[in-house]
Amino acid sequence: MTWNVADLPDQSGRTIVVTGPTLGGLGHHTALELARRGARVVLGGRTPAKVEETAQAIRAEVPDAQLDAVHLDLASLASVRAAAAAAEQLGPIDVLVNNAGVMATPYSRTADGLELQMATNHFGPFLLTGLLLPQLVASGDGRVVTVSSLMHNIAGRAPLAEPSEESGRYQRWRVYGQTKLANLLFTTELDRRLREKELPVRALAAHPGFAGTHLAANGQYGRSRGGIASILDGTIRAVSQPAAAGAWPTLMAVTEDLPGDTFVGPGRRGQMAGPPRVVGRSKLAQDEAAAQRLWDLSERTVDLTYP
Ligand SMILES: NC(=O)c1ccc[n+]([C@@H]2O[C@H](COP(=O)([O-])OP(=O)(O)OC[C@H]3O[C@@H](n4cnc5c(N)ncnc54)[C@H](OP(=O)(O)O)[C@@H]3O)[C@@H](O)[C@H]2O)c1
Repeated sequence: MTWNVADLPDQSGRTIVVTGPTLGGLGHHTALELARRGARVVLGGRTPAKVEETAQAIRAEVPDAQLDAVHLDLASLASVRAAAAAAEQLGPIDVLVNNAGVMATPYSRTADGLELQMATNHFGPFLLTGLLLPQLVASGDGRVVTVSSLMHNIAGRAPLAEPSEESGRYQRWRVYGQTKLANLLFTTELDRRLREKELPVRALAAHPGFAGTHLAANGQYGRSRGGIASILDGTIRAVSQPAAAGAWPTLMAVTEDLPGDTFVGPGRRGQMAGPPRVVGRSKLAQDEAAAQRLWDLSERTVDLTYP
């Protein structure tokens, strides 16, 4: 049967954290649909004015939406720790949606000395998930849904080099692909560990196909409005599926009764668009040894040992 957003079950009583909820992006649409179904949605964003803009847009459609916010900059390990500390007052968390991300940004390193894309798309979410795990366990049936990409197919290899070391010429698209491969390896290893420890949390992944958000313009120009950034942003929207539909795979992974380590993506046009279904992944993404090595590297890098 084809999955449809109209069939999204009631989410009353559930607390769902969505990272990267900027207006017009996948996080915004994910949060909107979950709020519409009665979930308490916690918006985890790095730009307070943008988080407020999204909250207002959601309230305009869902006047009784239950919204909270947590300030979160995934490119700063200190900020992730502060966000997790602030999130303690939320109580049990049913779902964490690791949605926030950057794509193909110019070379730069964070204050922690990490390459920006790996920091934002993998190490930050790795630390956040680990810190929120006790609250996910406390829900009794927790879930972690991490937003990957078809671009995991262009990774070439898993990002297993020492993150603080330079490793040759910076290929921004290749590195983006590696971060999205990391999302899948993270999901596999997290789910394996959760089962091994018999913890009541599942890890799943989703990808949106090709969706008309601000991702490309933000990555190339650091903004989505003004001059050439507006042109790129408009062009992407013209040739891709709407951002709202791009959120459907995530919504399916959040709400359907699927086994751990399931990957959900759009079902049409080579997974670029259409209603979601369970999809496959690259050979590199099925490398369990690489998943374990990335895990060890990540624990060392963010200085956190999972249970
Ligand atoms: N759109 C697509 O076709 C597509 C395809 C495959 C995968 N994806 C994945 O989908 C996810 C969502 O992207 P999108 O397309 O919705 O793009 P988007 O509109 O650019 O949204 C990205 C979100 O991530 C946030 N973010 C970026 N850096 C952050 C940081 N350091 N700390 C916290 N939040 C940060 C952004 O916040 P600010 O607005 O404050 O910068 C924004 O809310 C990403 O993981 C992306 O890799 C998208």
